[in-house]
Amino acid sequence: MNEAKYIWMDGKLIDWKDAKVHILTHTVHYGNAVFEGTRAYQTEDGLAIFRLEDHCKRLYNSAKIVAIKPNIAYDTLKEAHLEVLRSNDFTGNVYMRPIIFLGYGQMGVHHVKAPVQTAVAAWEWGAYLGEEGLEKGIKVCTSSITRNPNRSTFGKAKAAANYLNSQMAKYEAIESGFEEALMLDENGFAAEGTGECLFIVRDGVLVSPPNDNSLESITQATVLELARDAGIPIERRNITRDEIYICDEAFFTGTAAEVTPINSLDHRVVGNGARGPMTQQLQSAYFDVVFGRNPKYKHYLTYV
Ligand SMILES: Cc1ncc(COP(=O)(O)O)c(C=O)c1O
Repeated sequence: MNEAKYIWMDGKLIDWKDAKVHILTHTVHYGNAVFEGTRAYQTEDGLAIFRLEDHCKRLYNSAKIVAIKPNIAYDTLKEAHLEVLRSNDFTGNVYMRPIIFLGYGQMGVHHVKAPVQTAVAAWEWGAYLGEEGLEKGIKVCTSSITRNPNRSTFGKAKAAANYLNSQMAKYEAIESGFEEALMLDENGFAAEGTGECLFIVRDGVLVSPPNDNSLESITQATVLELARDAGIPIERRNITRDEIYICDEAFFTGTAAEVTPINSLDHRVVGNGARGPMTQQLQSAYFDVVFGRNPKYKHYLTYV
């Protein structure tokens, strides 16, 4: 773990080592918490958080969905992100983890009386799926784990409990020699990665599944905006796993994963087996945006 100096917890900055919870913390037992994964990049004009407003909005929406009443005002939470970045001496790019969780004082499944707590942590973190992955792509398998179904879980929430599924799918993939898993939905269509949304390219058309069975991804939305700017035709429709075997290019998007090419799925080489030209174009456009090199999208950056 790339430790930093301070973590923001319930209104104040505390030493990294002191950001602890009791063993009877409600969330530890019953899994109800909501969180975000947000990145800040070292731009030419200093460290800047990418789409802070959108991440904070999704966090509060997630809390609403899982019936957690935030203990911190919205603007205070946004300011907390800045405080964390200002108080730590980051020289590289940073990953931020705001979390709203249920603390100590109440046990039992009925959660509404459990005290709510909020923390914002940040640490320096490089490419989630490896620098080499960004260039050469990653080896993916179709998971035996179905993506959380809409009948029993809340897929619009970035809820901690949803990640048991992702965790099991990731475990299975890594243990089987792959780098990431693709989960299918209940109907057998490609849903999402364990922390990413899926794109494929077929005959010059960029295709990404609707968000019925994936998180409403901020990176996916950004990539779609960039594709529209570039005049790339876009389709939002279902994709089957065998369509990925025969597509020209495939890639994952996510705050952590950024834009990561998929070089194979289930041992079938995807496209040219490396980063395809459209993937490269969109990846490079994405990095231009997050690093503040595209003036059109400066409004997505909150400078520290
Ligand atoms: C399951 C899942 N799908 C998709 C994404 C991509 O979302 P975003 O681009 O907002 O980070 C994430 C990451 O947050 C995720 O955990």
